[in-house]
Amino acid sequence: MSAMIIDGKELARRTRARLAGDVAAVTENFGAAPGLAAILVGDDPASETYVRTKRRQAAECGIRSTAHHLAADTTEADLIKLVHALNGDETVDAILVQLPLPGHIASHRVLDTVLPGKDVDGFHSRNAGLLAVGRPETVPCTPRGCLALLRHAHGDDDSGGLGKLAGLHAVVVGRSSIVGRPMAALLTAENCTVTLAHSRTRSLPEVCRQADVLVAATGRPEMVRGDWIQPGATVIDVGINRIERGGASRLVGDVAFDEAQHVAGAITPVPGGVGPMTVAYLLHNTVELFHRRRADEAAQA
Ligand code: GUN
Repeated sequence: MSAMIIDGKELARRTRARLAGDVAAVTENFGAAPGLAAILVGDDPASETYVRTKRRQAAECGIRSTAHHLAADTTEADLIKLVHALNGDETVDAILVQLPLPGHIASHRVLDTVLPGKDVDGFHSRNAGLLAVGRPETVPCTPRGCLALLRHAHGDDDSGGLGKLAGLHAVVVGRSSIVGRPMAALLTAENCTVTLAHSRTRSLPEVCRQADVLVAATGRPEMVRGDWIQPGATVIDVGINRIERGGASRLVGDVAFDEAQHVAGAITPVPGGVGPMTVAYLLHNTVELFHRRRADEAAQA
């Protein structure tokens, strides 16, 4: 059996095209384009690449963006000062703090300084809490992108009512606040039966084999093997790991793709799966925050 390859690049392209139309309309309506401010601390090359990609694709959709690149030894107090300034900046609808931050900075204190109404990643504890209790406002971009890929793979057009994922057993491997935990909350809201597994889960391969939907977000290259997968399952690979093999450098996911593609019913590739969807939903969230702020302002007027 050969799995259907879920084309995240194409789905992200369609999502961005839809957003570009929306951005053009609101820019005409309100006389200003949605604004995104990105904060990057230090010189991590992968983070620099992610922020550059996010800003380039924002520009292609008509979203204004500004970048604030701070030195690696920036203090937590100075970073928090910048976040306060962006919170008060009328031209900024969405604030992105690229993670990871240097070790001397407590990420949670910085993320909780971002106004929840400008928190484009949904990392503020208020937004994380709202998602956990089933009243989501801003949802983290990667899990939101994964959900869109899953709906697409299952032919679910999000037209309301009970979706096509309802009743499926979803296993999420990885309990990070960026991906695993919000992913489990989103799948619960889709009426999946959800297992949130992690590095301490006993008999992890056996638990994974029970999954109709398997989301791998472990950060460990090719950890999920072909024989961990139930034949026909849908596999979403969140990992982006650069490895050296045979003298060459290449990107692999958290799933051993060459094995998994002969077992899964559908699978995301790396690259070209989840990655482009994360960026597309960052832009989606930016536009959503713009709309919400204008609606709140109109309600207060
Ligand atoms: N670092 C890894 N993934 C993400 C993400 O989705 N958003 C931000 N801000 N930083 C990240």
